[in-house]
Amino acid sequence: MEGAGTKAKPMRGADGEYPRNPLFRRKSTKALLTDAAAEAVGLKRALGALDLTLLGIGAIVGAGIFVLTGVAAAMYAGPAVMVSFAVSGTACAMAALCYAEFAAMIPVAGSAYSYAYATLGELIAWIIGWDLVLEYAVGAAAVAVGWSGYLRVVLNGIGIPMPAALTHAPGALPAGIFDLPALLVVLAVTAVLYAGIVETARLNSIIVGIKLFVIGMVIVVGAFFVRPTNWTPFMPMGWSGLMRGASVIFFAYIGFDAVSTAAEEVVYPARDLPVGIIASLAVCTLLYVAVAAVLTGMVPFKKIDVNAPLASAFVQRGLNAVSGIVSLGAVAGLTSVLLVLLLGQSRVFFAIARDGLLPPAFSRVHPRFRTPYVPTVLTGVLVGVAAALLPIQEIAELTNIGTLFAFTLVCIGIWVLRYLDPAMRRPFRTPLVPAVPILGALSCSYLMKSLPLVTWIRFFAWMGLGLIIYFAYGRYHSRMATGAGAREAGVSAAP
Ligand code: ALA
Repeated sequence: MEGAGTKAKPMRGADGEYPRNPLFRRKSTKALLTDAAAEAVGLKRALGALDLTLLGIGAIVGAGIFVLTGVAAAMYAGPAVMVSFAVSGTACAMAALCYAEFAAMIPVAGSAYSYAYATLGELIAWIIGWDLVLEYAVGAAAVAVGWSGYLRVVLNGIGIPMPAALTHAPGALPAGIFDLPALLVVLAVTAVLYAGIVETARLNSIIVGIKLFVIGMVIVVGAFFVRPTNWTPFMPMGWSGLMRGASVIFFAYIGFDAVSTAAEEVVYPARDLPVGIIASLAVCTLLYVAVAAVLTGMVPFKKIDVNAPLASAFVQRGLNAVSGIVSLGAVAGLTSVLLVLLLGQSRVFFAIARDGLLPPAFSRVHPRFRTPYVPTVLTGVLVGVAAALLPIQEIAELTNIGTLFAFTLVCIGIWVLRYLDPAMRRPFRTPLVPAVPILGALSCSYLMKSLPLVTWIRFFAWMGLGLIIYFAYGRYHSRMATGAGAREAGVSAAP
């Protein structure tokens, strides 16, 4: 183990110099790995390549395909939504290749936050860490509200209507008192995360099995009901409609990067993380394009239901039983998205706190369950309450902008680190550097540009709040500021 048995020394920048400007101090990749290995009780290493691929699919397939496909097809792209999926998938593929290089090289729980710490400095790292809250916590709250909506559809279908007052937040349409199912599902998922990574992976695998079955059924059964005439006109709203569709359904791909937050719970991270990230994205891209082709072939795009497009398409073709199974699949599917997004959020908080930018309680590991229980519980409660009380769907596009921003910086980071640290061992190398990172950064930025102004304003407001927290707390408590960054690394977190 590198660093084992060495004396604690003040941390130096990755370039070997004590940084002059603390905002740009960088944490060396070696120090990131040493800190991750130095926990007396580390996270439990139990995951393999298949678990990671299933975690990726668990996080990816959710509200995007079950709900937003309808919005993107009916309002923007028409049948060309299948191309929108391919466009968004290609941007994600380039980001995924960059994530894969970082994840194999620096397999620590902080994901994009830690990668930025090694390349772009502490301030940018904090900004990304704060930005990831938009992806994981706000994304999870939006998915919880979607889960509650699909549950209503299922319960209505079997004659158990739920009162609006208990299934909608005050600002939602129709307005309620609070969204009880959204709160309960978040708390239930939090309990599983608290109990352990093995339990989490097991539940995720079962749910992924169910949702892959349902998506497969949509494609196979739906293919018999395709009328090719529905695919004309193919691009009713032109190129701009296709691109706006791509920026909306980008949400459907969010989650493959959450695989990298489980890095400290993987037995062979250098080998298995790239597989998990790339395989989960590849499988989902193929499924998405196929589902989009079938949906727009089954129903004229103007008649696609924007609330429950897949389930409604089968009702419109008289297949009520299939529609019921699709709705049940959506309820199950959204549960695993919640599971992995909440997992990602707690691991990112854990890594940030380990570096001193958040209070130390966030990096405490449960002695028995070996999970970061403080951020797990805190994230669960905050996300559950937000989902129950806020009109979260209104701000869900923040998740897209936040994730695209993180992807852009990860792409840039890969290029930067090839210069800063060319000799670093890279178990996986992003192909065609700098073309892939540059194209990845440009395509993610282009998708960001397609998002509405109000989303940009909210994004800047959120980032402003983050900067206040950093300058009030993180800057002074950073382990690199206090000189506690490099600890004695005598205890390995490996099994
Ligand atoms: N990709 C995830 C979903 O579609 C966030 O629900």
